[in-house]
Amino acid sequence: LDARFQVVLGKGGVGRTTLSAALALLHARRGERVALVSPLAGEQLRPVLEEGWGAVPERLEVVELDPRGLVDGVVKHLLPVPALSTLLTAHPAYEAVYGIAPGVKEMAVLHRLVQLAEGDARVVVDGMATGHGTHFLEAPRKSAHLLVGKLATRARDIDAFLRDAARTQVLLASTLEEMPVREALGIAAALREGGFPLGALLVNRELRPLARSAAAEQALARLATREGAAPVASEVGSSWRSLQDHARAALHLQSQAAEMQERLPELLALGLPTARVPLVPAPGGRLRAVADALEAGGL
Ligand SMILES: Nc1ncnc2c1ncn2[C@@H]1O[C@H](COP(=O)(O)OP(=O)(O)OP(=O)(O)O)[C@@H](O)[C@H]1O
Ligand SMILES: [Mg+2]
Repeated sequence: LDARFQVVLGKGGVGRTTLSAALALLHARRGERVALVSPLAGEQLRPVLEEGWGAVPERLEVVELDPRGLVDGVVKHLLPVPALSTLLTAHPAYEAVYGIAPGVKEMAVLHRLVQLAEGDARVVVDGMATGHGTHFLEAPRKSAHLLVGKLATRARDIDAFLRDAARTQVLLASTLEEMPVREALGIAAALREGGFPLGALLVNRELRPLARSAAAEQALARLATREGAAPVASEVGSSWRSLQDHARAALHLQSQAAEMQERLPELLALGLPTARVPLVPAPGGRLRAVADALEAGGL
């Protein structure tokens, strides 16, 4: 799993930001130069990193993107006559084209991201959720048809970069809940159909059930009732309600973990290298624990 350009995709809320931040830290921990980027306006990467790691290593750079500025930059960079590009970006119609032309913004963002990856840093992208993520990767090919000259050539180069498994890897993130799994399978199908390299599966917030014990389950089930909890409660000096709540929580967690494990095979059937990241309850050491789990998964 060594591509210069790694993009984390998955359903909203599954942990794309946490996983990308942890992955970037993992690379930095090994001494690599890394650029961590989110193409989403307002996604806060720096606070996530600092909260989870304290001092962020210097070789990890959080790159902020300004899509509008990037579009202007691409136009200026690629149009041969500076006066012409200024004329163009200042033209009232430019605003409209920027807003409506399909894939133009995505193209400009990808131009910058790929430029970074062509430099001396590995690039980790905290990608968009589900359909937006695949749309994002398809933008260069789609907009290549609309462009001419150097811009069209650059679009085709970026498209080739994104489809080359030696340079690009999409990391598919999912939790073991119903909708995230369904969406992850949809993303995987769309990427495979589109010819984009899927590098790995990142299973996040996994719970593993304890080994089954009929006796323990029976005892907990009894504590989960008033009649069962009351005698134990008076013995240990607690309220029966509190005891009941604890027993129910334990039962719930165990059944949730079992449910998650039932969903795992569907994802594993994708046949990808897989990192399994446990649910880490304490926010304090979370990023470090996530990075360790990614490393154990071969990333
Ligand atoms: N392994 C984990 N264990 C426990 N909590 C986690 C884990 N991974 C992520 N979280 C928590 O889950 C929440 C969502 O994570 P995150 O913000 O990374 O998801 P996201 O996919 O980027 O969401 P969004 O779609 O909103 O951008 C956060 O509170 C995060 O701290
Ligand atoms: Mg996010």
